[in-house]
Amino acid sequence: MAKARTLFLCSDCGGTAAKWEGRCPHCGAWNTLQETRESPTAASGHRYAPLAASTPVRRLADIEAREQARNPTGIEEFDRVLGGGLVAGAVVLIGGDPGIGKSTLLLQALASLSERGPVLYVTGEESAEQVALRAQRLGVSGDGVDLLAEIRLEQITQALVERQPGVAVIDSIQTLYSGELTAAPGSVSQVRECAAQLTRIAKQTGVTLILIGHVTKDGALAGPRVLEHIVDTVLYFEGDTHSSFRLVRAIKNRFGAVNELGVFAMTDRGLRGVSNPSALFLAGHSRDVAGSCVMATQEGTRPLLVEVQALVDTAHVPNPRRLSVGLESSRLAMLLAVLHRHAGVATYDQDVFVNAVGGVRIMEPAADLAVALAILSSMRDRPLPAGLLAFGEIGLAGEIRPAPRGQERLREAAKLGFEQAVVPRANLPRQPIEGLIIRAVDRVEDVLGVLS
Ligand SMILES: Nc1ncnc2c1ncn2[C@@H]1O[C@H](COP(=O)(O)OP(=O)(O)OP(=O)(O)O)[C@@H](O)[C@H]1O
Ligand SMILES: [Mg+2]
Repeated sequence: MAKARTLFLCSDCGGTAAKWEGRCPHCGAWNTLQETRESPTAASGHRYAPLAASTPVRRLADIEAREQARNPTGIEEFDRVLGGGLVAGAVVLIGGDPGIGKSTLLLQALASLSERGPVLYVTGEESAEQVALRAQRLGVSGDGVDLLAEIRLEQITQALVERQPGVAVIDSIQTLYSGELTAAPGSVSQVRECAAQLTRIAKQTGVTLILIGHVTKDGALAGPRVLEHIVDTVLYFEGDTHSSFRLVRAIKNRFGAVNELGVFAMTDRGLRGVSNPSALFLAGHSRDVAGSCVMATQEGTRPLLVEVQALVDTAHVPNPRRLSVGLESSRLAMLLAVLHRHAGVATYDQDVFVNAVGGVRIMEPAADLAVALAILSSMRDRPLPAGLLAFGEIGLAGEIRPAPRGQERLREAAKLGFEQAVVPRANLPRQPIEGLIIRAVDRVEDVLGVLS
């Protein structure tokens, strides 16, 4: 009989190595190799049979392209992120910090979906009683929701095949355990194997699977990177646990647009959708303060106004600190270099902190202009004019580049009572927008003039 092999799996790329090394030989990441024992049946077993009995080669044009039917969850903000609803046979992975509300959202979604067909909630983390208690607190009916408290993969796949629910939630993928492998639950090989097996079942049976995934300390999904490749859709739950707002963002979606954002508020009755979130992330100062600038960001199809704050303070250590919360830190370093080189604003002896208010995360480069204005305002201790908003990307050559869908951003700002806007020249609207004075900037040097 063949013996179980000891392998070392990379938690980043999923690559294997025969012996332990400090660095993954495939992706070059440090300290990511984990020891695992792979049983021979897993590698050569019948479970890797093809999806269909035999599929001949066909011409692409001959294949009938059917529009995928959407199964809306009934939770509007969740459906928006999913691209209109769930698709049969699709696998959705949803990650987020502990306690952010993953189980809550999916229990609410399943309860709503159960009105239109059988659904299954597999809990590996909590007992059946705990889930029942949550359902009671949320005030959702458990009449149509089947519950399975199980962590063994084989039992779960059997339940899926036998019961054929329309939608099944696995809470969470890290707790599952396949008897075929000797590695512990949550290890790279277990997570990879369980996710791959469940995906096959989903594609074969048409069950829509929603996998809950843990995240690492850095906020990335725990487990192998291949997990994100296996599934059809990857969603992230974001938000500051100190505020009640929660955001669900699509990172990858094979059935819809990415970067759509679902906005929720956490209440004692569960997550409630916020359908008009544009003013949610404004701090609402009673008087003008230095170091603050509002930007209009475009999240999917909706503009969102977010306050960006900066604090520039004399550094007391040889290496001044650059810290950003909710904004990309590498972009902050770049922006400071551009400000120095092209506008003569030196910060080499200053600590610079920037923050996007409300726990929102802004990934788009159009935040640059607002960040630069907030930094300048803090440095000079001079507030920006009241009712001012800015957006635009700053290039390395000091040029200000346009942001996509500028008109929509400006309209939203005017709707919320903003009176002035600083935008890249290419974003100047052809027709004036009522109530909004728009100032165009071409280069980073021009930005200095906004404060004077
Ligand atoms: N009685 C309550 N009133 C208001 N909010 C509550 C109440 N009970 C729980 N919550 C909220 O629900 C959150 C827990 O949600 P949930 O269990 O869905 O999170 P999770 O993302 O599944 O966490 P985990 O990663 O631990 O499974 C708590 O952090 C809290 O914000
Ligand atoms: Mg949970």
